[in-house]
Amino acid sequence: MTAHDVGAHDAAAQGAAALTTLRVGLIGAGERVELALHLPAGARVVAVADPSPRGRAHARDLFGADVTVETDHRRLLELDLDAVMVFSPDHLHAGHAVDALRAGASVFVEKPLATTTADCDRVLATARETGSRLYVGHNLRHAPVVRTMRRLIADGEIGEVKAVWCRHFVGHGGDYYFTDWHADRRNTTSLLLQKGAHDLDVIHWLAGGYTRHVTALGAEMVYRHVTDRRERPEERMGDWFDADTHWPPGSLTGLNPTIDVEDVSMLTARLDNGVLASYEQCHFTPDYWRNYTVIGDRGRLENFGDLDGAVIRVWNSRRSGYREDADRVVEIEAEDGTHGGADPALVAEFVRFARQGGATETSAVAAREAVAAGTAATESLRGDGTPVDVEPLPADLAAYFDRGQRELEVR
Ligand SMILES: NC(=O)c1ccc[n+]([C@@H]2O[C@H](COP(=O)([O-])OP(=O)(O)OC[C@H]3O[C@@H](n4cnc5c(N)ncnc54)[C@H](O)[C@@H]3O)[C@@H](O)[C@H]2O)c1
Repeated sequence: MTAHDVGAHDAAAQGAAALTTLRVGLIGAGERVELALHLPAGARVVAVADPSPRGRAHARDLFGADVTVETDHRRLLELDLDAVMVFSPDHLHAGHAVDALRAGASVFVEKPLATTTADCDRVLATARETGSRLYVGHNLRHAPVVRTMRRLIADGEIGEVKAVWCRHFVGHGGDYYFTDWHADRRNTTSLLLQKGAHDLDVIHWLAGGYTRHVTALGAEMVYRHVTDRRERPEERMGDWFDADTHWPPGSLTGLNPTIDVEDVSMLTARLDNGVLASYEQCHFTPDYWRNYTVIGDRGRLENFGDLDGAVIRVWNSRRSGYREDADRVVEIEAEDGTHGGADPALVAEFVRFARQGGATETSAVAAREAVAAGTAATESLRGDGTPVDVEPLPADLAAYFDRGQRELEVR
């Protein structure tokens, strides 16, 4: 048995840990830190780090005066923490995750895992080297609409999956991604990666494979023409977001000084199992939802809506013209909580994993593969659209994660 096995998987230690409170530290206290409000009984926020006064004040409001609040995440990591959740901007994820893994904590990283494939691989390698548990917050894997599509596929409703197409209409795109740090490619690489990491992961999950070749086109069509710009260092999205106004998109004001990410992008991909995929993302549509179409060799399915009240239609009995009733219509009932109940389920899974390890619906390797596909697609669209290959994760590292983040036992 190696030192890693002893550190991360000792059964007696797990039993004892289950009886004690899980001490959780948070890095970054902006909009998304509210995910930590879903921590279940037995897990408690004890410290938060954020360099901005606004973030630190928000942390005290949310988690109380007893919580230790730091400006530098390294001070936070000096505390005796069992788990760390990373909610900082995307380009900081890798550094924060590596530091937290080295501090011995179980680590939750918001998606995307990082903004480059090399940084993803660095985080995964550090998890292996330290034996600390790594979890990436791909909440869509807990979304009822995605889980239902996956179940229908597993039940054989459409036969063997051959193609997956996803159209993502980002109706609030200007408010969400062009008014702050997201609009600057130094922080995100691209929105095809930033926002698309969710969908690329779902495409991979539904298809049962990972992208190996990708080609893409994209453009800055609307928001770059908006000349009303300003810095908003102490503001957060809730300060400017308004679902009922801000239309048409080009009328938005106060956008980020730097805008150099595409507001429409489209990719096609070939996966390692031969499945073909396409993904289209637009940030100036009037409506906000995702449409997945999955085509198998015995039928196809498609979702209409993606939250409460959504339906999945399955056509699989014969050829026909358009039939709205389809052969099967499955209604989606969202659970309580943000993102259709996906967020509470995500946090509950992380806490269970931090305590006990074991299998999870989310996957650190899949999170890496979503970033790898997104960065390769960005390279293609910022070049001349020619295909870019995606290198797989080194096999020994992939095997470590396939074993549930365990080293091979040496007897
Ligand atoms: N899974 C989802 O559905 C989902 C939804 C929204 C955001 N996210 C992700 O969550 C993360 C945070 O997004 P957000 O909307 O909360 O952004 P935000 O801008 O509202 O908050 C980011 C916070 O990080 C802080 N920060 C900046 N530098 C830091 C540092 N060095 N150390 C610690 N904190 C630092 C900022 O001061 C700010 O308070 C992003 O990676 C984003 O992609 C995921």
